[in-house]
Amino acid sequence: MSLQVPVTDDTTPLFSHALISPEVASQLPEGYTIRPLQRADYAKGFLDVLRVLTTVGDVTEEAWNARYEWLSHHNDAYFLLTILDPSNKIVGTGALIVERKFIHNLGLVGHIEDIAVAKDQQGKKLGLRIIQALDFVAEKVGCYKSILDCSEANEGFYVKCGFKRAGLEMAHYY
Ligand code: ACO
Repeated sequence: MSLQVPVTDDTTPLFSHALISPEVASQLPEGYTIRPLQRADYAKGFLDVLRVLTTVGDVTEEAWNARYEWLSHHNDAYFLLTILDPSNKIVGTGALIVERKFIHNLGLVGHIEDIAVAKDQQGKKLGLRIIQALDFVAEKVGCYKSILDCSEANEGFYVKCGFKRAGLEMAHYY
């Protein structure tokens, strides 16, 4: 799949729309849409959705734009997508980061990160659609597997999404 040149305007998608699964898009609730992140998503509630997951901090628009520009230069490895409700507000998001290895014949591994659905939108299968959409991206770009870390409380959700327990997470915090 050919990749886009870096983008820094407000509404160009972070990565190609061709990587958004048409099947997943068609299974969303009426009026909801799924698409790659855009720079203008700062004003559409992207960071507020992430606040259901963890601390986000005070990210100014200037800091957001700088980070977005960096991501746009790495849009063959960072695939962040969003689900919007019928009023065009962001209600869900998730990320796939593609790691390029030497092992497994230069294998690619997808890392699923920062899955979040707005509190008042949970239970509508939006989380499931985000994972299915990220799985689609991972397969399309050539990953042989995708992995993620989650709490015990979320294990059931990921099992419903087709994942199975494999290994143990270890962490060093700096
Ligand atoms: N435990 C067990 N089953 C669950 C859980 C759970 N915590 N959450 C959802 N499910 C089930 C649902 O009941 C549903 O089952 P069904 O098909 O039998 O009806 C199925 O999983 C799909 O659920 P969705 O409706 O798609 O879930 P939702 O849209 O609410 O999203 C999510 C789930 C992402 C965990 C959401 O609750 C959320 O944003 N939580 C807060 C942030 C968070 O913890 N994110 C995950 C961090 S881990 C990571 O980012 C890698």
